[in-house]
This record gives sequence, structure tokens and C-alpha cells, in this order.
Amino acid sequence: MYIKNLELNNFRNYDYLQINFDKNINLFYGNNSSGKTNIIEAIYFMSTGKSFRCNSDDYLIKEGSKFFNILIEQENDDFINNLFFSEFNKENKKKIFKINNKNIKKLSEIIGKIPLVLFSPEDIYMIKGEPLLRRKYIDNILLHTDQEYFGFLSKFYNILKNRNYILKLIKEKKIDKKEIETWNVQLKDYSIKIINKRIILLSKINDIINKKFSNFNNITLKYKIKNIEEISKMDLNIYYNYFFEKYFEEEIIRSITLIGPHRDDIEINYYDKSIKYFGSEGQQRLICIILKLAEGIYIKEKVNVYPIVLLDDFTSELDDMNKNFISEMFNSFQQIIITTTNIENVKNIKINKYFFVENGRIKIINHY
Ligand SMILES: Nc1ncnc2c1ncn2[C@@H]1O[C@H](COP(=O)(O)OP(=O)(O)OP(=O)(O)O)[C@@H](O)[C@H]1O
Ligand SMILES: [Mg+2]
Repeated sequence: MYIKNLELNNFRNYDYLQINFDKNINLFYGNNSSGKTNIIEAIYFMSTGKSFRCNSDDYLIKEGSKFFNILIEQENDDFINNLFFSEFNKENKKKIFKINNKNIKKLSEIIGKIPLVLFSPEDIYMIKGEPLLRRKYIDNILLHTDQEYFGFLSKFYNILKNRNYILKLIKEKKIDKKEIETWNVQLKDYSIKIINKRIILLSKINDIINKKFSNFNNITLKYKIKNIEEISKMDLNIYYNYFFEKYFEEEIIRSITLIGPHRDDIEINYYDKSIKYFGSEGQQRLICIILKLAEGIYIKEKVNVYPIVLLDDFTSELDDMNKNFISEMFNSFQQIIITTTNIENVKNIKINKYFFVENGRIKIINHY
């Protein structure tokens, strides 16, 4: 599957743009703030229904305009073309999506239709930031590849909300402490379901890194539950029961649930050392990109479609050896879209089509 062309109207710093992509490796190069990330953002928006840079769609509309739209033509492996359209109007706040001219009623119907993996420079916080971003990494993969997972996760958050409310009522002495018991059973049940799926996913990602990224097979991802060193050594059921008892009083005082997959973490190690605390900038960036590419390989294995790989400014901080290593991994994919400020950064990478970006305009450049 690949994107054949993209058309933008009033999107970010583009008035109007129409470009045709190569099936394989596309490069967008140009100075800072010329409009490179905006291209990546438009593709991402069509795939997920949102931006990865801001929460409000208003920012995506070209200043002075009332709406933007994006049109993407995609060709799948059976040579069938699909047209994806989206439009957002800031006056009536209406956001519409169409596939082949048919209106899409629920956002969930568009998600995953253009499978992609994105590396953007902020993703480095997945390595060095808070646990939430690492949980997002695995949740996002599972939400796109495992039909059951969405149900598990939404049920869990619903139980969590109710359990916290019950804790509050107990604190206010409005109900008996015993009322918590049915919520404990449900919380434990869904926590274990979610944790098991996450652990299986991490072992698959570890396998992919081991097999495909042989230079870096000393990267390991390990699921971390608070206070448990080795998950296999302790039955989760016993652990949850023990924990519910031990921390019940604290949970009542704070009216929050202190255990569950919403508080777990993933430890990312390189040669058995935490990359978060021991890794250099370049190592952290490299490992972040490797995790994203491993995500892409996992998606291909699971849904049998090559995701589009979007790498925004991936070459910064990487030395030539690591850049070459990443570009060798491009063979595992079909269409790749990369951006850089300087064409020298990608001199050893085989590029199929060059786009020069300048102030919201794009020129195709032939390089021989
Ligand atoms: N809604 C908007 N309307 C008009 N221009 C916008 C809008 N949003 C962003 N811009 C402009 O788009 C440009 C940024 O584009 P983009 O983020 O794609 O740059 P870039 O080429 O990726 O730069 P860098 O190399 O620094 O990452 C900025 O000049 C910004 O002012
Ligand atoms: Mg950018």
C-alpha cells in the first residue's frame, strides 16, 4: 500500500499544494519552517483524525482562512485506488471524512485505513520522559492490531472511574468499606487482561528487534508493575489481592486507585542498563527510531499491510554509521517519507524522489 498523491487546501502554511509521491523513498528537504513537518502532519491527520502536534484543529487552518481540506489518493496491493478526503471548518467546527466520496460517520472507521508509523523529534520523550508515553506506545500498537484491546481498555477506564468514586464516598463515610469489593474484582480482572496482552506484545517487539536489528539485539523491553521485579515469579491475582489490602487506607484518603495498568511502565534497557538514565542523546534517539520501525514490522506481520513510514528529521544527532544502519532497515518497508534541513544529512541513503520545500511551496528536484 502506498500514497500516490496528496492535495492540500489552506493547510498550515500551504494555500494549495498537489504532489505525487514515489512508491518507495521520498525526501522533503528545506530550511527551518519551510513546511516539511506540515506535509507529515497532513498525512498523519488523514490516518488518525488528529494532529500529533496540537489538540485543536483550528491551528491547522491556514491563517486568514476558514477551513482546510486534505485529499489523499492511495493505491493498495491489489492496485485498487482509494480516495481519502477530510475537511475542517472553524466556523461551524465541522470535521468531515470521506472515503471514495462516502461520508464516514465514526472516526473509528477511518483509523487504520492508512496504516503508518511516525517518528517525530518529540518522540524522544517516549524514552526519556514519563511512563505515560511508553504506555501510549504499546497501547497505540495494540489498538491498531488487536480488536479486543479497545474493549478491554475502555472497560478498564470505566471501572477505574467508578472505583475512584466509591473510594471518595467511603472517605466521606457515605457508604460502607465493603462496597469496594466488587470493584476490586472487576479492576483486577481487566487489569490482568490488559497486562497479559501488553506483555505478549513486548515479547514480540523484543523478538523483532533481536531478529531484524541484529546490531542492536541488546535492546530489551520489559513490562514493569510497581513493586514487582519479575512478573512471572508472582501470580498477578495474588499480587493484586495483597495490594488492595495493603494500600486501601491510602487509596481512601487520596480517592484514587494506586494499582492497575494505568500506573505501569516499560523499562527500556540496552546491555541491561536503563537507556532512560544511561543512554546518550544519540543512543536514545536511535533506540526510539528502532522502536518505531519495530512497530512498523509488527503491524506488517499482524495485518499484512506495509505501514507508511514517516520520519520527521530523523538524522539529527545521529552519526553516519547509525544513519546508515537505519536506512538499511528501510528495506523492510515499502513507502518511506523523510524530512531533513540539509540534503547532506542523507547523502548515503538511496532516495527515489526529492522534494525541495521553500515557504509553503514545493519543487521536484532531479538528482543523479
Ligand atoms: N495555521 C497556519 N497558518 C499559516 N502558517 C502556519 C500555520 N501553522 C504553522 N504555520 C507556519 O508553518 C511553518 C512551519 O512549518 P513546518 O513545521 O512544516 O516547518 P519545517 O519545515 O518542518 O521546519 P523545521 O525544519 O524547523 O522543523 C512556520 O513558518 C509556521 O509559522
Ligand atoms: Mg519540522
